[in-house]
Amino acid sequence: MMKKLSIIVLLFVSSSLVWAGSGNVHSLRGDVALDAPATTVTAKEWSVDNGKIVRNYAQQPPLVPHDIEDFSINQEGSDCLGCHNWNSEMPGATKVGISHFLTRDNQALVKISPRRYFCTQCHVPQKDAPALIGNMFKSLAEE
Ligand code: HEC
Ligand code: HEC
Repeated sequence: MMKKLSIIVLLFVSSSLVWAGSGNVHSLRGDVALDAPATTVTAKEWSVDNGKIVRNYAQQPPLVPHDIEDFSINQEGSDCLGCHNWNSEMPGATKVGISHFLTRDNQALVKISPRRYFCTQCHVPQKDAPALIGNMFKSLAEE
């Protein structure tokens, strides 16, 4: 009985702590009300054909230096692979590395590994827009 009571007291205390702490949570929306009228945001242009972007550390998935708006990846196929697959003849398009053909147990596959199929999970295009949240990241080269 005592054990049950102390669990209930503990639950009560911890939930009131959560309640007290929620006042400090700030969303990216700031003080703008949820039902405020939408403002017109002008989307920045995607960076198009900037040439390859230098990587910040050895294991980084390289950033996409071109527009990808017209390319799709779905169950029918991948436009990305059309240019980046090992046997593609697209001049200048870096071929996907051998790592993209390995399962997580390092078994080599003939086709791109399912865990590497959705390219944009890891490779992202760039826009010249201010960062939503500041950060202090420094590449190894700047150290
Ligand atoms: C029409 C051909 C084409 C298609 C389709 C394409 N790419 Fe590319 N991609 C290129 C070329 C060419 C480059 C070399 C840099 C440049 O010219 O922009 C490149 C560069 C890249 C790089 C940088 C590689 C490096 O060595 O730094 C990444 C990452 C990339 N593409 C990812 C993608 C993804 C993800 C998609 C699909 C959403 C895609 N690409 C679709 C042609 C293509
Ligand atoms: C789970 C994350 C992930 C996914 C999904 C993924 N990649 Fe990568 N990619 C990486 C990483 C990490 C690297 C750098 C290390 C390496 O080569 O494996 C890389 C490297 C590359 C390179 C440069 C290879 C080189 O030798 O310089 C290209 C091109 C590329 N990926 C294209 C693609 C394309 C196209 C797809 C979709 C079919 C894709 N990637 C899916 C993580 C990913």
